[in-house]
Amino acid sequence: MNQDVPEQLVEAGRGYESLFVPALFEAWTKHLVDGAGIREGSHVLDVACGTGVLARNALARTGANGRVVGADPAPGMLAAAKEIEPGIDWVLCGAEALDVADEAFDSVISQFGMMFFEDRQKSADEMFRVMKPRGSLAIAVWRSVEHNPAYGDIISVLEQQVGTAAADALRLPYRLGDADQVTTVLESSGFTEITAEAKIETARFPSTRQMVEAELRGWLPLFDIFLSEEEIHGVLTESDKTLGKYSGPSGEATFPTSAHVFTARKP
Ligand SMILES: C[S@@+](CC[C@H](N)C(=O)[O-])C[C@H]1O[C@@H](n2cnc3c(N)ncnc32)[C@H](O)[C@@H]1O
Repeated sequence: MNQDVPEQLVEAGRGYESLFVPALFEAWTKHLVDGAGIREGSHVLDVACGTGVLARNALARTGANGRVVGADPAPGMLAAAKEIEPGIDWVLCGAEALDVADEAFDSVISQFGMMFFEDRQKSADEMFRVMKPRGSLAIAVWRSVEHNPAYGDIISVLEQQVGTAAADALRLPYRLGDADQVTTVLESSGFTEITAEAKIETARFPSTRQMVEAELRGWLPLFDIFLSEEEIHGVLTESDKTLGKYSGPSGEATFPTSAHVFTARKP
């Protein structure tokens, strides 16, 4: 697959994996793998898999007798995922039209993708379709910015230094903080035994600068927002002051992040 994907996109995927995954996303995978009750031999689909951190952790649980498939519409993410773990089937598709068979999976898992789905109901219907009867679902969605205050701080700095478009791009991942909204969608698809639990994990970036630069150079460009070096310098200088409270003696930035973890079953 990597041969057909422009190198710039593959590089962006590798950048996501190195800048964001160990710092922010890896810690959540255990909640999903446990929440879905993934076992040795399970057949598992990871929707919005990105570079595959959750799929890889699911594979560690299913073992060689299981099967793990990762689905994502971003070719650069999947190309990077395949470089890391060729033993998983990586399928290029969006959550609204999963390119997999009906009733093929014991478990469907998805972390930090649903906020971006264009049609959440269709995506939940698709997860239901591809799951075996009595199959299990586990989804993680960020809570609102009020529950993720370090990102609230960066958003404030961006709003002041650069403007609303850049701040809004950073608000996007936190726009589905209302658990009832997700529960309603899951119910409408036919899922039962739905639970929603607010959980907290610690994010760990090498420094606050690295954390902010990851957003400025890795996230904003996905929205066609390319800041000048002067603007980046201004944001970093201001955020040094605002985010200093998250810095430890070694310079590492640690702060709490909060998400809802949903579990459900297909009857
Ligand atoms: C924040 S990343 C999370 C990736 C991965 N689950 C992780 O934990 O690292 C969000 C992912 O959602 C994917 N995404 C965006 N729109 C999507 C859609 N409509 N259907 C499926 N995935 C989508 C993006 O390509 C991206 O890989």
